[in-house]
Amino acid sequence: MATTFAGEGFRLGLCARGEPTAPQGAEARTASIDVTDAEALDRFALSVVERFGRIDLWVNNAGVLEPIGPLADADPGAARRHVDINVLGVANGSASFARHVRSRPGGGVLVNISSGAATTPYEGWAPYCASKAAVEMLTEVVAREERGHGLRAYALAPGVVDTPMQALVRSTPLGDFPAGDRFRGLHRQGGLNSPEWVARFILDRFVDGSPASEGGGVVRFRVPHQRSPE
Ligand SMILES: NC(=O)c1ccc[n+]([C@@H]2O[C@H](COP(=O)([O-])OP(=O)(O)OC[C@H]3O[C@@H](n4cnc5c(N)ncnc54)[C@H](OP(=O)(O)O)[C@@H]3O)[C@@H](O)[C@H]2O)c1
Repeated sequence: MATTFAGEGFRLGLCARGEPTAPQGAEARTASIDVTDAEALDRFALSVVERFGRIDLWVNNAGVLEPIGPLADADPGAARRHVDINVLGVANGSASFARHVRSRPGGGVLVNISSGAATTPYEGWAPYCASKAAVEMLTEVVAREERGHGLRAYALAPGVVDTPMQALVRSTPLGDFPAGDRFRGLHRQGGLNSPEWVARFILDRFVDGSPASEGGGVVRFRVPHQRSPE
């Protein structure tokens, strides 16, 4: 996604626990940040604003899938860590960006990456389904709270995307994730979305000043299939 945004002339602020590599030729600030650390995330946002002047688009993309398997077998510590990242991490990012948008003139676009798992119950993914449902509702609330400040907030389910997380899904034993065959089949048939496709959806629907980007107050979006599985 960063590569696609950079190709459209965006300057980037990129963070993850492992410091991301900026796309070649991109103007970017990068840092090693854990999204559960609200203060560190705020400091990073400030450093991006100091470098580039303002932030117009903020994507809360960081997320984890584990623990996978029946909830009854899950380590409570792992479930707590999951919620810390997938829910509180998104809350931290959303709050930080909302404060930034309030502090300067003009609007801003917040995109919180959700999942089809927010609305489809998958056995083996109790924390993940719950955390993504929480992301969608959190985004609905933030959209209402911040609309008057010019912030537009969206929860975006990106489809099944070709990333390391999907490799993890395919390698999970059926006993822990009974729906695994569906994802293995999609991969075999070339039915996965590319990260670039997701980034283009964000630019076309949420950022560009087309009427569709207003969304008519709609907050929850689903990225369509890039190609039909053969
Ligand atoms: N792939 C799919 O099919 C799919 C479908 C629906 C939704 N999604 C969602 O899309 C988003 C991106 O997933 P992905 O498929 O790209 O997964 P991924 O390949 O596992 O990448 C996850 C990213 O999140 C970062 N991250 C994880 N925990 C973090 C933390 N505590 N602080 C900061 N960064 C953290 C990781 O970097 P570090 O490990 O270096 O921190 C990595 O860059 C997630 O929210 C996921 O739930 C993916």
